[in-house]
Amino acid sequence: MKARPCIIDTDGGVDDALALLLALSSPELEVKAITVVAGNTDVVQAVKNVYRLLKLVSREDILVGIGAARPLKRALHVGKSIHGADGLGELDQYYDGSQLRYKDVMVPSNLPEATGVLVSMAKEYGARLTLVTLGPLTNIALACQEAPECMRCMGEMIIMGGAIRVPGNMTAVAEFNIWADPEAAAIVFETIKHPLLVGLDVTSEVIMSAERVYELLRLHPSAIAQFVVDCTAFYAEFYREADNIGGFPLHDPLAMGVAINRQFVRLERLHVDIETEGKWTAGATVGDTRRRRDRDESGLNVDVAVAVEAEAFKSFFESRVWNF
Ligand code: RIB
Ligand code: CA
Repeated sequence: MKARPCIIDTDGGVDDALALLLALSSPELEVKAITVVAGNTDVVQAVKNVYRLLKLVSREDILVGIGAARPLKRALHVGKSIHGADGLGELDQYYDGSQLRYKDVMVPSNLPEATGVLVSMAKEYGARLTLVTLGPLTNIALACQEAPECMRCMGEMIIMGGAIRVPGNMTAVAEFNIWADPEAAAIVFETIKHPLLVGLDVTSEVIMSAERVYELLRLHPSAIAQFVVDCTAFYAEFYREADNIGGFPLHDPLAMGVAINRQFVRLERLHVDIETEGKWTAGATVGDTRRRRDRDESGLNVDVAVAVEAEAFKSFFESRVWNF
């Protein structure tokens, strides 16, 4: 099997780390670069989190681009209550004896700028390139503004974001990644032909239980399994308190799973607009789900994941990450 070149744009949170582990343990994808955006945490911390992960799996050779520190037109709101102050579940609370389990990570100085990395990867790999986005779409929108033709020529773009037929997780109607920078999302949706949207409609169905993460550490003890236990504890606690669930959704890992194998989801081509103005509705992904006979097929701009094989995906995710 020939690995497909892939670039990942991430905002450095807990489920982003799990998605990166999935990508880096999957022979179907060859991760050529990672670009980083502010979202779950500020962009400098998000870069640190990416390097922590790359160091854990000895892949610091991968090119990392630093991107936007804030959304295009709005203030930055980081997701501290969900991902912790460091974006990775507050890893500084863990000790082995008197030693911090997670020491500070070194980040190379003079990292390239994310927009340039995205555009040059799109130029180099064109239709062979898979782009997976796991955070707000600020970096992608900037690249679309700089080189729209180039970005349009990429093979596929898979976006973790949006909520079409289900409520939002940031507001009643908006999912975090789109809510954080709706103007950027609107630019991306205008530029890219048929992005594939893996939103809350499907990611909320894929819940990993907190107990299972501990059990997997017992069954496959390793530094990676320990990291997963440590970084997900805070995240799971948030979901226990907020949604009364005994685990956490695999938002970003499912988007990565779809990049590896589309069979995990069922797709429907819909017309989707991004709400950029509403006082109560900014960041909503407004999908026209009406099945009118006279609908104009040429206006259907997004492939939306509408159903998921949750158990099949979870088994696949476990088989990859805990056998790294
Ligand atoms: O709404 C879920 C998304 O928001 C995930 O990408 C999570 O990491 C946060 O960025
Ligand atoms: Ca994310």
